[in-house]
Parts: sequence; structure tokens; C-alpha cells
Amino acid sequence: MLNDTFLLACKGQKTDYTPIWLMRQAGRYMAEYREIRQRYDFLTLCKTPELAVEVTLQPVNILGVDAAILFSDILIPLEPVGFDLEFSDKIGPVIHNPVRCREDLKQLKRLNPNQDIDFISKTIKLLKNELKVPLIGFSGAPFTLATYIIEGGVSKNFVNTKSILYGERDLFDDIMEYLTQLVLDYLHFQIEAGVDAIQIFDTWLGVLIPADILEIISRYINYIIDNIKNKYTLPIIYFPFNCSAIFEQIDLCNCDVLGVDWRIDIARLVGFSSSKAIQGNLDPCALFGNKRYIKDKALDIISSAKDSKGHIFNLGHGILPDTPVDNVKYLVEVVHNSKNLIKGGV
Ligand code: CP3
Repeated sequence: MLNDTFLLACKGQKTDYTPIWLMRQAGRYMAEYREIRQRYDFLTLCKTPELAVEVTLQPVNILGVDAAILFSDILIPLEPVGFDLEFSDKIGPVIHNPVRCREDLKQLKRLNPNQDIDFISKTIKLLKNELKVPLIGFSGAPFTLATYIIEGGVSKNFVNTKSILYGERDLFDDIMEYLTQLVLDYLHFQIEAGVDAIQIFDTWLGVLIPADILEIISRYINYIIDNIKNKYTLPIIYFPFNCSAIFEQIDLCNCDVLGVDWRIDIARLVGFSSSKAIQGNLDPCALFGNKRYIKDKALDIISSAKDSKGHIFNLGHGILPDTPVDNVKYLVEVVHNSKNLIKGGV
């Protein structure tokens, strides 16, 4: 039987306890992941269903979290549409042929998921046979993907992206429209293969000014969400990282669950948006603190979310590579026992 606590919380229904999963819960902080990674590079892990299944299951089995997230990456659909993608151990993802002009955009093809990323649906189907908790599928959001394809990798000031946004608005809009279709093709494929919820990661939206952030949400994010909602009922989580400046207007977003980072107290969000469940928001660095700190902060977050429509505990961003696994296990225990801990006051 599926433990549906996470899905109930996403829909704002009552749960016996606060569910928890962690962004980037599969990864280098775990010895079991490092062991497999010594033998295979990252892209091979993503593209080999048996390996992707094994790595997806590691945090579920080791930590006891309430949801699994497909082991893949937001950049995976970029390679088949025409990008020369590399994951470098030293500098992270690199795209060797970034988009800088209309000609570059014209070279890109439309994703053909069955042919291009068949390994994703195979991984999802294998996982669905094994998992006793829901499986989350995901995509990068159009703007976050735009920064990678325009900058060619991780960026500090996003000068190339902003040059197009502020200088060639028509080209920017066409890039965003192209990526919106890519995100939809990628998400529909994962949903058809059997994921139980989806998360849209908007890691870099917060580098923009509030007016542009709000326009991107209402124009592209809501288009994606509405398109999916027309056909499916599964929960949609939207995670606009570093966007607390616009949260007073966040009811503009049509997602079911809003993911938030540690820069805002969840209690404040309840006033802005009573229609959505909230996911978050422990600072990932809290896991480098002592156990007393971890417990206090986790319980503070749960208390501050007590009047929200639903609460899914998570970090405010991905778990960091050197995080002590013991502390992560402790966090999961504290969240699962929070009712008793808050009542008992210890
Ligand atoms: O466990 C999970 O959360 C599922 C898998 C997952 C990965 N990346 C695996 C991964 C997910 C959901 C992502 C999302 C992702 N990827 C985002 C959005 C979330 C965020 O962190 O803001 C972004 C921006 C990326 C792009 C990306 N992938 C970067 C910048 C890097 C390098 C930095 C880093 O942390 O290594 C990656 C590589 C990556 N993606 C790794 C993993 C486990 C590390 C690869 C390795 O083993 O060397």
C-alpha cells in the first residue's frame, strides 16, 4: 500500500504527521551514492534505468522520507534537442553551444520523448513497482532553463540572459516560448509514465526585478500549470527560489503547493496565500549545526506552518554535498515526531 501522507498534505487534507522529503536527497553526501558514482559518471547514472532506480531509492530506504524524487536533472531534456551538455566535476554543468541569437534558437528541435528520453519512462515504471511512497517527477522552469542555455552554465550576474531580456525582448519571449513547450513535453511524458506529483524548479527567477518575476509567473508558469491541470489532477509544486520579495502577490500562481526558501517565515505566507499548501523551508546549512539547533528550527517551522492549508517539510534549497547523514536522519525523526515533541516541549 502506498503511504499517501505527502499527497494528502499537497492537497491540503489532514495528515497524521508532517511529511518530509528533501530537495537533492540523492547525492554526494551519502556514502552509498559516492560508491556508485566512483564507477559511473553522472549522465550514465541518469540514463541507465537500473542505476537511476537504485540511486532514487537510497534516500527513501536510508532516511525514511515520505516521497521519492526521480533521479535525473533539469538539464537532461536539453541534450536531445541540440545542446552539447557536459557535467564537469569541477565547475558543474556546461553547455558548449549556448543560445545567443535567433539563429542559435532556430537550430533547436522539438523534444520527442519516446525516442529521446525513453530511459526516463523506464526508470519511472521500474520505480513505481518498488516504491511504497509517492514518486515526484520534475522539470526546470522556463526561465531557469533559459539561464543555462544562454549563459552556457552556472552564472554569477546573468549578463547574457539579461542582455537579451532587456535588449531583445522578442528574442527572449521566443526562447521562453520554446522552453515552455519543452517543459510541457517533458512533464507530460513523466506524468504518462506514472509519477504521482511534479515539482517545477525555478532556481534563478529571483535574480530578476519583481515586475519581471510576476510577469513570467503569470505568462509562462501558469500556462504550464493550467495546461497540465486541464488533463490531470496530480499535485503541482512550484519552487521559485529566492523570490520572497514577491510573495505578497503569490496568489497569482496557480500551483497547488508553493515551495519556499528560508528567507521568509511561513506564518507570513499564510496571510498572503491561504489557497496553497506550503513546502519548506529549513536552511540547508542548519544540518551543519548541532542536534539541538536542528530540532528547535524544525519545530519552529512546523509551528509557523500550523495554519497553512497543508505543510510538506523540506529544506529551503538542495541538500549540500558535505552534509552529515546522521543529522539528516535526525531531522526526519524530529519532523515525524513533531506532534509529541511540540506538545512535550522538549
Ligand atoms: O535527489 C534529487 O533531488 C533528484 C535529482 C536532481 C538532481 N538535480 C541531481 C543532481 C534534481 C531534482 C536536480 C535539479 C537541479 N539540477 C536544479 C534545480 C534545483 C537546485 O538545486 O536549484 C538545478 C539548478 C540543476 C542543475 C545542476 N545539476 C547543477 C547546477 C549541478 C552541479 C552542482 C552540483 O550540485 O553538483 C548539477 C549536478 C547534479 N544534479 C548532481 C546531482 C546528484 C551532482 C552530480 C554528481 O554526482 O557529481
